[in-house]
Amino acid sequence: MDHFALKNGVMHAEDVPLPDIAEAVGTPVYVYSRATLERHAKVFRDGLEAVPDKLIAFAVKSNPNLAVLRVLQQQGYGADVVSGGEMRRALAAGIAPEKIVFSGVGKTAIEIQDALDARIGQFNIESEEEGLELAALAAASGRTAQCTLRINPDVDAGTHDKISTGKADNKFGVPIDQAGQIFGKLAGQDGVNLRGVAVHIGSQLGDLAPLERAFGKLGELIKSLRGAGHAITHVDLGGGLGVPYHKDENPPSPAEYGAMVARVTKDWGVSLIFEPGRVIAGNAGVLLTRVVRVKRGINDPFVIVDAAMNDLARPALYGAYHDFAAVKPNGKGMTANIVGPICETGDTFAMGRDCDHLTSGDLAVFRTAGAYGATMASSYNSRGFVAEVLVDGGKFAVVADRIDAGAIMDAERVPDWLA
Ligand code: LLP
Repeated sequence: MDHFALKNGVMHAEDVPLPDIAEAVGTPVYVYSRATLERHAKVFRDGLEAVPDKLIAFAVKSNPNLAVLRVLQQQGYGADVVSGGEMRRALAAGIAPEKIVFSGVGKTAIEIQDALDARIGQFNIESEEEGLELAALAAASGRTAQCTLRINPDVDAGTHDKISTGKADNKFGVPIDQAGQIFGKLAGQDGVNLRGVAVHIGSQLGDLAPLERAFGKLGELIKSLRGAGHAITHVDLGGGLGVPYHKDENPPSPAEYGAMVARVTKDWGVSLIFEPGRVIAGNAGVLLTRVVRVKRGINDPFVIVDAAMNDLARPALYGAYHDFAAVKPNGKGMTANIVGPICETGDTFAMGRDCDHLTSGDLAVFRTAGAYGATMASSYNSRGFVAEVLVDGGKFAVVADRIDAGAIMDAERVPDWLA
């Protein structure tokens, strides 16, 4: 459930008519709903009610906007970060360092040192090499880093190949059959307290079965690690729960996910960490856009909007579906190709889509754009970065300024020797 709905024939975000935002801020613009973020945070937490000891760390990569992070911080959420930049954002949003978990295969020495200095709660180590480097840096700073070892369980998550992370040939984690040996080696290092294991098999999962398989394998591994004398107190189960982009999609609910987790982990006797991203932020945002013009096509017309693949990359990157709707539907429909202004055919949001009837100047939204939307934007075609707005009841605020092409150009120089 979200808070983007028609009221008196005009789409609102909570109590704010979207045309008011377009008028004040211009288009394209990402619009987030605080009430939706809070609702999703609560529903996810409630789904895990049967899990007594847990940390829910929002996957910052899905929506790193400071105001969004602040909303989730106020909900008691921690942060799952994958770069020094994300860690800085989480801290700036007021998330306590001990609630920050650092994942990712390519943490640099500088990022590791900064995270040690910030005294974050946990490092999820993704390789033996990284673990040794982390241990050396921590020991040299007189610190003990709290860590888990990320396991690659070799489970096919059944999602898009580009967002699948738990198959043996993916770059993430250590192979499960080498985990015992690597764990033993890292656990013996000064500077780290290797206290558990982590797993994340992919994103936009529409089925719990692969997750349950991965968690089952993890349970076996925990037993064998304990058998070898290791104390396992923390297990990070990652994120991945899917959301309905299309009305026919029906991914598992947080309650179903929570019930499965509680059942599979009931004898583990550990503190669990969760890293949800999309399920919290996805349906809490839309990309508001204006139709530039409608162009005749051979078959269907092209509805050319002022948003493009640089603003919302998912359709171009993954062939992803985003629902597209008029802000003021006139009751008529059309079949159209929805495209942006960028000079490549990949800048196509949908072909042959049945949608509301639109003409030049009309406003429309791409729904479910709150996760992996603004954060994946680029300035391709020198289009700048779109603004972001957070709505709260009847008020709204710009929570990220539009960065126009000129500001980006200002960071560039022509050297003297070209003058
Ligand atoms: N934890 C780790 C270690 C992850 O790699 C990810 C996502 C998450 C948590 C959060 O997963 P979520 O709950 O959001 O599914 N750009 C792609 C999605 C990439 C996901 C990468 N990792 C997209 O637009 O679909």
